[in-house]
Amino acid sequence: MKNRLAQLIQKDGKALFLPIDHGYFQGPTHKLEKPGETIKPLLPYADAIMLTRGVLRNCVDPANTKPVILRVSGGTSVVGEDLANEGLTTSITEIVRLNASAVSMSVFVGSKYEHQSLINLTKLVDECEDYGVPVMAVTAVGKELEKREARYLALCCRIAAELGARVVKTYYCPEKFHKVVEGCPVPVVIAGGPKVDSELEVFEFVYDGMQKGAIGVNLGRNVWQSEYPVAMIRAIRAIIHENYAPKEAQDLFEQVKAGKA
Ligand code: R5P
Repeated sequence: MKNRLAQLIQKDGKALFLPIDHGYFQGPTHKLEKPGETIKPLLPYADAIMLTRGVLRNCVDPANTKPVILRVSGGTSVVGEDLANEGLTTSITEIVRLNASAVSMSVFVGSKYEHQSLINLTKLVDECEDYGVPVMAVTAVGKELEKREARYLALCCRIAAELGARVVKTYYCPEKFHKVVEGCPVPVVIAGGPKVDSELEVFEFVYDGMQKGAIGVNLGRNVWQSEYPVAMIRAIRAIIHENYAPKEAQDLFEQVKAGKA
């Protein structure tokens, strides 16, 4: 367990995860139509990649040594009835066989399927603890993006940690994000959500989230849907591992974009 966590969370205690699992309910997401191509230039700057077994098998070179966080919940789609109605999609044998450094699954607190997703979390934790595989719980909101506020997120994160998650991935919120982190006894990483308007906006929320106690990010669309994904990931990496302020990250972004760094 400790060894796997050390593969994900770096010696400085920080982490940059690159998720490309969106297809498991969204299908061929914009700029992720060919996930293997999308991640090629980004891999050197990520501490781990998050993806499903299907994309791992079919789109990632088996010689890849970047740690893998395997998405193991699903069974719903954007055109289906309710995104919260997820089940576990991957057995423990497969998780171990694919040499995952961790697994992730969504919990839908407050939804019609709250109980089901939380019990799925406990079952996954029971199986994964036997094999020393950390579980990262994702506090999902489905299509209800307005749920991303501190009281709700704090509730979800705490519940996920109480049920055995080793890491929790949640959304950043501008108000009282420190309360989300303080109420959660395991490390918290920030998800990005849909692409926002400017790079600086991303740098600002990542920086603020880190100042308020997050250990890093699990940021997808705001990286690979950018016109300059390598510049984005390098700037975000500098915030996480080199404590760059948002404006310094913006400068680095511009330099990489211009081919000067
Ligand atoms: C969605 O549930 C996926 O698990 C993504 O990994 C997660 O939302 C983070 O990606 P993004 O930064 O694009 O929101």
